[in-house]
Amino acid sequence: MTRTPSTLELTAVDDIAALQTIGDAVLVQLPAGITAWAVTGHETIKALLLNPKVSKDPRQWPAWTSGRYDDTWISMWVGVVNMLSTSGTDHARLRRLIAPAFSKPRVNAMLPAIEAIAKELLDDIDQGEPGTTADLRSTYAHPLPMRVICTLFGVPADLHAEVGSLVAAFMDPHADPAATLGTMRRILEELIADKRAHPGNDLTTALVTSRDEETGDRLTEAELIDTLLLVIGAGFETTVHLIGNAIHGVLTHPDNPAVREARSGRRSWDTVIEETLRWAPSIAALPMRFATEDIALPDGTLIKQGDAILAVYLGAGRDHRAHGADAHLFDPTRSIGEHLAFGYGVHRCIGATLARAEAGTALHALFTRFPDLTAAPALGDTEPISGFIAFGRSALPTIPRPVPADERAVQ
Ligand code: HEM
Repeated sequence: MTRTPSTLELTAVDDIAALQTIGDAVLVQLPAGITAWAVTGHETIKALLLNPKVSKDPRQWPAWTSGRYDDTWISMWVGVVNMLSTSGTDHARLRRLIAPAFSKPRVNAMLPAIEAIAKELLDDIDQGEPGTTADLRSTYAHPLPMRVICTLFGVPADLHAEVGSLVAAFMDPHADPAATLGTMRRILEELIADKRAHPGNDLTTALVTSRDEETGDRLTEAELIDTLLLVIGAGFETTVHLIGNAIHGVLTHPDNPAVREARSGRRSWDTVIEETLRWAPSIAALPMRFATEDIALPDGTLIKQGDAILAVYLGAGRDHRAHGADAHLFDPTRSIGEHLAFGYGVHRCIGATLARAEAGTALHALFTRFPDLTAAPALGDTEPISGFIAFGRSALPTIPRPVPADERAVQ
């Protein structure tokens, strides 16, 4: 049945809800005129992510190998050689080189450093007078994961701001792809050269060493650069949105019982974090996968060999068949069950433990320091991040120390 090319466009996260009303898989137009199946059903995504006829290797995508999209935003996702754009043995080799660095024991060992970064940032925010507004995105949700990942990979502090804006550009289909990719690779080449000359106790040095030593899992120079690009990029921008979306959810649902309990220390922040991941996954949709053979979906939809497939994780999180009729609502009292915010199958996120640890530390430290933290009036007007890939907000205006009501009356 259905293979009717739809004229539906997917350019912003807000477009996703409409796709869900049409079907589990809908053929959409992405920016630059790229056609892909946007898959929004929880179970359908899981089945496709395990299907051996679905690959991440762009050589399986005739629209890409034709060169038609070389200069478009998609080149930032498929014109790279790292875990996200490989399948099979190449993917397994690239993944096992870096995944152990993000194991639970390794993440536990990072906790004191994460707590110290949170404290330092909160000390700065605490300088504000009671009643003043603080943008917790630029002062907290963004710098915390940025500093964690840059410390891990030995990226010097003077590069943080530039790396931050380049990584944001990867998530924006309207950014200049050649400039973004070119500048990021140049920075990483310089970082690699520096680590070769001055090895440090960091993950860039570890990757450079494994490239330079004769081991079974040897990396090419291009793979080394693009692996760093992926891990540094994925390693913080996503966590920025997790922390930001959780703060947003908490402050806009102050009366939710689970929110109240977390704020008062009667329950851990884990349920708030898992509900945030389900309700507002940092990666709303992840480009790109490709059908290596025709795939018939249970509803009769036919994905043809060579078609592109976009896993829409926001759709899975809001799928009422998986999460109930109120799936569109933020409610950490719900029994969350399985969510797909970290993906599924062999490409499942290697940084999930670190992301959860950073978010837990960040929320605990923030609400311990500022127990009365509240939304500033402008919070409701903040813009979502541009594009359909990342799901987050551009600002988080809050009032860390509201003026008590009796003092307001005197003023
Ligand atoms: C809230 C934070 C995060 C979210 C929501 C997230 C989400 C995801 C998702 C959805 C995937 C699967 C991509 C696919 O469909 O193929 C993924 C893969 C990946 N993530 Fe994360 N991620 C987060 C944090 C991190 C962190 C902290 C790191 C740090 C190293 C990281 C590194 C990676 C890597 C390297 C992959 C590729 C794995 C593979 O292809 O085998 N992520 N992530």
